[in-house]
Amino acid sequence: MKYNINILFFTLAFLLSCSGDELVMNDVLKDQKIEAAYTPEAYQLNIPKWLPEMEIPADNPLTKAGVELGRHLFYDPILSLDSTISCASCHLPELSFADPNRLGVGIGGAIGDRHAMSLVNVGFYTKGLFWDGRVKTLEEQALMPIEDHREMNENWKQVEKKLARHPNYPKMFREAFGIEYPSQITKELATKAIAQFERTLISGESRFDKIVFANDLDAGFLTDSEERGRVLYFFEESQVLEHPGCSHCHNGPLFTDNAFRNNGIESVNSLKDFPDKGFGGFTKQLGDNGKFRVPTLRNIELTAPYMHDGRFQTLEEVLDHYSSGGHFAENLDANILPFTLSARDKQDLINFLKMLTDTNFVNNPDLQNPFK
Ligand code: HEC
Ligand code: HEC
Repeated sequence: MKYNINILFFTLAFLLSCSGDELVMNDVLKDQKIEAAYTPEAYQLNIPKWLPEMEIPADNPLTKAGVELGRHLFYDPILSLDSTISCASCHLPELSFADPNRLGVGIGGAIGDRHAMSLVNVGFYTKGLFWDGRVKTLEEQALMPIEDHREMNENWKQVEKKLARHPNYPKMFREAFGIEYPSQITKELATKAIAQFERTLISGESRFDKIVFANDLDAGFLTDSEERGRVLYFFEESQVLEHPGCSHCHNGPLFTDNAFRNNGIESVNSLKDFPDKGFGGFTKQLGDNGKFRVPTLRNIELTAPYMHDGRFQTLEEVLDHYSSGGHFAENLDANILPFTLSARDKQDLINFLKMLTDTNFVNNPDLQNPFK
């Protein structure tokens, strides 16, 4: 049997050299069996008990090798056309995997139309990804930036080839998924690995978590200002009718209800006029125009600028927006109402929000660039 394959191989090589197609021949020659063991070990997610459970797709269980491969791919510009842009170019680890630019800046400085949100706790968002919820799973999402002209502008066939020819990736794909030949590297496997890594982006150890959920005495107590901010934030604790009521929408341990709502940032004459239709662009329902996914407020101190179009630079500006009651539209959320906020209230609320900063998450060595 082995003998026959050799004959076949040499015949093929001979034919190819006759036709002068060197590129194809190189591909054939390099597709040698990968020398590495396939002994997958489950990766145990470290989810604090106050966070919800994470749904993991049955066909993509986390393994140590899979997460590690995903981390490499996430940080590797090899996925872009001219090797200048990686996922981390727009999702910076030190900024909770968000982008300091107002709008996404891709290859050659191409500008997208939305702000890249933080990827913190992204594995828990099962009601639709992106600001408009148009994508269901992380696996599906990871396919998109590669071929987006304003992001990485590469095509997957090319990426698969680059990965197959790479000195390390074939071995890593074998260790993660048990493939035998470099030619078996596919976009499906690459995006599975990226999704595995993304599911490890878990944050639940902010000062707020330590004090409120973990009862960790070492974390101290809320300062007076933080406590006043907390009461302003959680509407059910507020004594007054006019209140910020942030927790109507940014609630639960993830600090988002994951719903799609219009929080009134856009001034429009009718529902047809939203410059970015958001959720309505996906559902094609007029009443959904101008709705966007309620984002988490975890690590919000680090993820400016704010909103789907990055229109606000600071949390002060965000609070000015909310206290104004926002712009009217037929689908303006009922919980967006004007309220008064003194300078001290503002500072209190911001101090409270800063309690959601999780430095353990941002500095976690397992989440950093493996090429540095
Ligand atoms: C050029 C900048 C850019 C690059 C490069 C980029 N992204 Fe993004 N990312 C964005 C923007 C902008 C959004 C929001 C888009 C939208 O809502 O329409 C986003 C959204 C996401 C989301 C959705 C998060 C959520 O909470 O819904 C995920 C996940 C994500 N990106 C992962 C990746 C991965 C993985 C890569 C690399 C394969 C990548 N991104 C590369 C800009 C970028
Ligand atoms: C009616 C629901 C609702 C209420 C109440 C609400 N928000 Fe929001 N919030 C949203 C939605 C929806 C978005 C995203 C809108 C967009 O990008 O177009 C958002 C976005 C934000 C952002 C930007 C986050 C990011 O990643 O860019 C911040 C900060 C924020 N809200 C803080 C607050 C604070 C503080 C309060 C209380 C004063 C509050 N929100 C009250 C629904 C709400």
